[in-house]
Amino acid sequence: MKFGYFDDVNREYVITNARTPWPWINYLGNEDFFSLVSNTAGGYSFFKDAKFRRITRYRYNNVPMDAGGRYFYIKEGDVIWNPGWKPTKTPLDKYECRHGMSYTRITGEKNGLEAELLMFVPLKTHAEIERLTFRNKTESKKTFKVFSFLEWCLWNASTDMENFQRNFSTGEVEIDGSVIYHKTEYKERRNHYAFYGVNSPISGYDTDRETFLGLYNGFEEPEAVLEGSSRLSHAHGWSPIASHSLDVTLEPGEEKSFVFTLGYVELNDDEKWESKGVINKAPAKAILSRFDTSEKVDRAFNELKAYWDDLLSIYSVKTDDDKLDRMVNIWNQYQCMVTFNMSRSASFFESGIGRGMGFRDSNQDLVGFVHQIPGRARERIIDIASTQFPDGGCYHQYQPLTKRGNNDIGGGFNDDPMWLIFGTVAYLKETGDFSILDEMVPFDNEKGTEVTLFEHLKVSFNHVIENLGPHGLPLIGRADWNDCLNLNCFSHDPNESFQTTENNTVGSKAESLMIAGLFSVCGKSYVALCEYLGKDDEARRASEFISKMDESVIKYGWDGEWYLRAYDFYGKKVGSKENEEGKIFIESQGWCAMAEIGKSEGMVEKSLDSTKKLLECEHGIVLNQPAFTSYVVEYGEISTYPAGYKENAGIFCHNNPWIIIAEALAGRGNDAWSHYAKICPSYTEEHSDLHKVEPYVYSQMIAGRDAAKPGEAKNSWLTGTAAWNWYAVSQFILGVRPYYDGLVIDPCIPSSCKGFKVTRRFRSGVYTIEVKNPDGAEKGVKTITLDGVVISGNKVPVLSGEHSVVVSM
Ligand code: BGC
Ligand code: NOJ
Repeated sequence: MKFGYFDDVNREYVITNARTPWPWINYLGNEDFFSLVSNTAGGYSFFKDAKFRRITRYRYNNVPMDAGGRYFYIKEGDVIWNPGWKPTKTPLDKYECRHGMSYTRITGEKNGLEAELLMFVPLKTHAEIERLTFRNKTESKKTFKVFSFLEWCLWNASTDMENFQRNFSTGEVEIDGSVIYHKTEYKERRNHYAFYGVNSPISGYDTDRETFLGLYNGFEEPEAVLEGSSRLSHAHGWSPIASHSLDVTLEPGEEKSFVFTLGYVELNDDEKWESKGVINKAPAKAILSRFDTSEKVDRAFNELKAYWDDLLSIYSVKTDDDKLDRMVNIWNQYQCMVTFNMSRSASFFESGIGRGMGFRDSNQDLVGFVHQIPGRARERIIDIASTQFPDGGCYHQYQPLTKRGNNDIGGGFNDDPMWLIFGTVAYLKETGDFSILDEMVPFDNEKGTEVTLFEHLKVSFNHVIENLGPHGLPLIGRADWNDCLNLNCFSHDPNESFQTTENNTVGSKAESLMIAGLFSVCGKSYVALCEYLGKDDEARRASEFISKMDESVIKYGWDGEWYLRAYDFYGKKVGSKENEEGKIFIESQGWCAMAEIGKSEGMVEKSLDSTKKLLECEHGIVLNQPAFTSYVVEYGEISTYPAGYKENAGIFCHNNPWIIIAEALAGRGNDAWSHYAKICPSYTEEHSDLHKVEPYVYSQMIAGRDAAKPGEAKNSWLTGTAAWNWYAVSQFILGVRPYYDGLVIDPCIPSSCKGFKVTRRFRSGVYTIEVKNPDGAEKGVKTITLDGVVISGNKVPVLSGEHSVVVSM
């Protein structure tokens, strides 16, 4: 069952049934001011940091789900309704929600009155624009009232939900004409306020929640709206809100728009006040005046569209499969940008108060957006590297506001250092900007400790070889990519977090085959980089360690039909046929196969075959089999999940592309493709009722075969899945891969695919790459012509201007 459809021309997903199986959301904003908006106008806004600068309030995990947002109540006679259906849930004659690139347009219609709500954050603007357009589609005159509504959050999203003894006495507002200002705590340490205005005279307002709603009412029946007039309340403490009321009259066929602006302002100490106790409104008025007509809003909206046209024109494909084209050209790239902006902070599964920027997550996210915003990727690499320790180890997370390592989560995740190599190499291949390697970057943000970024890569590499276990394999530390395989924790206390509980590495023999494969892949690209830079000694030194690692994997990491997952604290095998549960895991198959360890001995093919046979199911590849059915203290969190969910045999969509890439490297295009299509959102759209979350973005997890409802997805939007699938499809399936000195063309496709065309802007050139596959090959390029001339090899050089490349497979 579907709840809408893709409109590819407008780059929108159009929801036609408001009762989606879960709120289906979108993100507004591209730089500093962000909003989450659901298909019924729920959600919230924040400035830069979803914890410390929360502008509007949101209640997670509430009943009903998704309560609170920017609501417009329309009262015509006795009928009260919302264009987005919620919160009154008055049945609408028409409903449509269009989620597009950084904007959402919700249209509702009741009794011949249409209300269209367009929401977006204009570029370089600290405000959300909500343009509400009414159309009278009847033959008679219409007179009605409109009430806006949103609820201010008292800035710190976490204390806002906890510290009521203080917060109920702090709320403060000012009302000035059609603008309501929220200035809680402004006179003390804060230098910021928010405002909500409309470009038209109002007939009333409310700023106190209890007065507007009535203490015993929910959002669905505000007393002021039921009565038909605002109560002109002025909030002093309790819960400040912002609500305007407007009287509207429309002649038959007439249309009228109102522009509501929700904005945020920061001021220096010496300009905070207009007069004692009265905030300086000039900056707010400047923002309001930029959007005080519908034409100005149109202009800003068109600029936003042009911004996305540009970003999405860097890589695009034309195949004969719409589902593939819309993921590659629109939604996968869009999700990568959202993930870049949000990291793992704010979604409908992440509260915005819990997590900072992950060291490994941020580096992996990079491969999803580096082609679009290389300048910001550069900045991010430096930020991340600045939190590293001199021995190559890392804080697991850092805070986006301070950019400092975060001790709450600590460190010791021994995969972390490798990801810095992974991210930096991706940046270099895309941009050719080797100057980044000479940037002076501190350790742990300490002044005076600066070394070049290249040195950071070197200490990253060394961190693995300085932390080897008894089999010459990498010690796992607190955990590797799988945060839930906690081989050194031994936690018996339900009150401790697996992420932070004591990490008993002393005397531990716990080694990771996932890190071994990761080291081999990233190590080889480190070697290639050194060679490219003429650092031959370093290349040789590193190569020797990699060869040794590969040998250790072949000798101690192979279980006969697949790669082992790990050795535990005591040196016992994990992920072996000898185990009762958790005999095979996906991570080591993916990484050791991508590293092609033991390829000539047939290990790669065997590992991929075992993955297919033992881990693949109808909805994707599960993480491990058999699932754990009881708690294993020496394995940790993984065994706490019910079978089929999350890291315990869920389909962790983040690691499926590792197998896809390994299949592609092995030349098995049909297998790579079938793994890709299984978890790709546009291909699951048909069973949206089962899938539950948005059909236009990837989720972190789909319930695996052992779950009660296999195929049901969770944790949509903020996941490394977005970047990894983008990387897999763009660089390994379609096979257009940036390299330091050119674009490698190396497709690996299903044999049924007769060809496709990629347009790729790369450095200062634009390449139109037409791939022809008349004989149904899966891999292998026969000839390539560049502007009509045959070239040798499959790398097109870096060129300026437009070029045509024709590839025969
Ligand atoms: C989740 C992991 C996550 C970790 C750290 C665990 O509970 O299962 O997916 O990486 O928490 O936040
Ligand atoms: C989600 C985390 O953000 C990521 O860092 C981790 O690798 C996966 N979960 C797997 O545990």
